[in-house]
Amino acid sequence: MIAEILPTHTAQLFNAAVTRAAESLRAGEVVALPTETVYGLAANAWDAKAVAKIFAIKGRPAHNPIIVHVASVAMARHCVTDWPAPAEQLAKSFWPGPLTLVLPKSSAIPDLVTAGGATVGVRWPSHPFIQAVIRKCGFPLAAPSANLSNQISPTNAEHVRKQLSDQLNLIIDGGQSQVGIESTVVDLTVSPPRVLRPGMIHEESLVAVVANIQHSTSNSQHPTLRSPGLLKKHYAPKAKLMILHWTHDADLRRQLENSESQIACSHIIAHTHIPTGTDWGGVSVIPHDAEAFARALYGELHRGDEAGAELIVVEAPPETIEWHAIADRLNRAAS
Ligand code: TXA
Ligand code: MG
Repeated sequence: MIAEILPTHTAQLFNAAVTRAAESLRAGEVVALPTETVYGLAANAWDAKAVAKIFAIKGRPAHNPIIVHVASVAMARHCVTDWPAPAEQLAKSFWPGPLTLVLPKSSAIPDLVTAGGATVGVRWPSHPFIQAVIRKCGFPLAAPSANLSNQISPTNAEHVRKQLSDQLNLIIDGGQSQVGIESTVVDLTVSPPRVLRPGMIHEESLVAVVANIQHSTSNSQHPTLRSPGLLKKHYAPKAKLMILHWTHDADLRRQLENSESQIACSHIIAHTHIPTGTDWGGVSVIPHDAEAFARALYGELHRGDEAGAELIVVEAPPETIEWHAIADRLNRAAS
C-alpha cells in the first residue's frame, strides 16, 4: 500500500478531498488529516473496529487513550455524560482550538478509544479541513498524532508520508500545522481541574477563565498513569537531544567537547545565539518567539534526524510561561 496524498489548496481540491476522506472514514478506514496542532490519524470514534486500526498502524500501546475530535459543543456533549460549568467556560473561550477537555465518557464511545478508562478527551480543532470532514461524516473522529508510537509528531503531510505511507490509503495535505505542538490537555474530572499536558494555551490563560486550575507537574512521575502521553520518554527524535545555554560559538563548542558526537554530526537549533562556524552538521534558526518556535520545532527535529545527526542541540528556551509547553516537549525528548 502506498498512500495517496491529496492537496487542499483550492476550493475544488479542498471539497474533493473532504468527500474522499469522509468516504474512507465512513467505510471504517483510517485517514491522516491536518489539524492546527499536529497531523492526526483519524477513524470513526463510534467504531471500535476502525479505532483498532489506529493502534495497529501506530504500534500504540493499548493503555494510551485517544482524543476524540468534534465539530460542535453539541457533538462533544454526545461523547460525555457530564458537561460541568468549567467545560462550558473553557469551550467558549478556546474552542475551536488546541485544547482537549477530559470528561466522564458516554457509552457511545467504545472502551478501546479511552484505553478502558472511564474518561474521554474531547477537542474541537480549528483547522477548517478536519472540521469539514467531521461535519460531512456526522460522527466524531478519534485521532492521535499521525506518527509511529514514541516518534516526533508530524506537522506537515510529508512527515506523515515518511513514517506511515506504506500503512495508509490516504493522507490529506492541509499545509503546515499552525500551532505545531500538541494540544493542552485539561482533566475536568478532578477537583480542582488539572493540566495533564501543557500546550500553547498555557496555564495563565486557562486560569483567567477557570480560576482554580492546577498547574501541570511535568517532572513528577504521578501523572503518567492518568495520561500515558506524559510518560517521560516521548516525542523523541532518533538523535540524542541536548538542551544547552551558550553565549557564543566557542562557549557552545567547549560544552560539546565531552559529548561523543563530532561537530560535523551535530545539528544546532538556535533562536538567539546563532552559531557562526561552518563545520556544524546543520544549523536551524527559529525566531525568538514562542509561537514561531513551536510551529517550527518538530520540523527542525525531523530535519536533524533526516540529515543523520547523532546529536541535536537546542538552545534552551526562556523560562517564561509562553515557552512552558516547548520546554516540556524538549525535556521529554532529551530524557
Ligand atoms: O493536538 C493534539 O492533541 C493532537 C491532534 C491530532 O489533535 N493529538 C494528540 O494525540 O496529540 P496523542 O494521542 O498523540 O496524545 C493524546 C494525549 C496522550 O497523552 C493521552 O494519554 C492523553 O492525550 N489523553 C487522551 N485521552 C485521555 C484521557 N481520557 N485521560 C487522560 N489523558 C488522555
Ligand atoms: Mg502523540
